[in-house]
Amino acid sequence: MKQVVDLAELKKELALLKTPLGFVPTMGYLHDGHLSLVKLAKQTCESVVASIFVNPTQFGPKEDLNAYPSDLPGDLKKLEMAGVDLVWLPTPEIVYPKNFNTWVNIEGVSEPLEGAMRPGHFRGVATVVAKLFNAVEPQKAYFGQKDAQQVAVIKQMTRDLNFPIEIIVGPTVREPDGLAMSSRNTYLNPEERKAATVLYRALTTAKAAYAAGERDGEILRKIMHQTIESEPLAKMQYVSCADRENLYELEHVKSGALLSMAAFVGKTRLIDNLVLSGKDSE
Ligand code: PAJ
Repeated sequence: MKQVVDLAELKKELALLKTPLGFVPTMGYLHDGHLSLVKLAKQTCESVVASIFVNPTQFGPKEDLNAYPSDLPGDLKKLEMAGVDLVWLPTPEIVYPKNFNTWVNIEGVSEPLEGAMRPGHFRGVATVVAKLFNAVEPQKAYFGQKDAQQVAVIKQMTRDLNFPIEIIVGPTVREPDGLAMSSRNTYLNPEERKAATVLYRALTTAKAAYAAGERDGEILRKIMHQTIESEPLAKMQYVSCADRENLYELEHVKSGALLSMAAFVGKTRLIDNLVLSGKDSE
């Protein structure tokens, strides 16, 4: 597996790779969720490129940029084992050189939920992903359903800005007890780690109500809210039952609706989601 830092080196190595090229952007501290995207890319792409870049512009001033976990040697080993051909490790100066002043701001879909709780977050995500797309020029790019709103934002950007890239979404990879894998799970102490399963329990409880015939969005939101409230270490930030594409809250729930939520467990902010029936339901 080749490793590059500079843009010129990246372009040189990319020219040697067979197409179709699959791209998996990450912020590192890799787990099986990230690696599942590499596996998915390996299924249909001739070459796979990954990037590791902890993107400062998607973190709010009070967020965990400086504490964001990292393990570069471990990450490189995992990517190599997974069969990645080329890994790009840009520095902040490469991505955001002096006088950088252009931002990708997606309206609508980036505004509710995570967008409302984390102002500027999706501007940072969309800007860096646009830059990564322009640098790597893949035919396919892979994102996890774990970050459902990020998927909606990236799809909107790809359409609106005519990136000739197919966006492919991989299912959420979970721990055996249901907790969605996340680099941030490492912040949880053992007691919080147990409590963190409440997010998935809230989703599956609402899903069971839907399966039993409940179609009132407000009631499904209430079920998720109450489940989270029942866990003393958890503090709910939002719960949502929305259209998975435009993220409008639903009154009448149909198949394909997205249940999603954010909650603090101790000081750690966790998100999770589940699509009701359809292909991506878990
Ligand atoms: P990061 O959080 O490192 O995630 C990289 C990719 O892995 C994202 O597409 C994310 O949705 C996916 N992922 C994370 N946990 C997952 C899980 N449990 N199951 C399946 N997929 C999972 O998301 C980002 O980085 C950044 O915002 C990025 C897109 C790289 C832009 O900076």
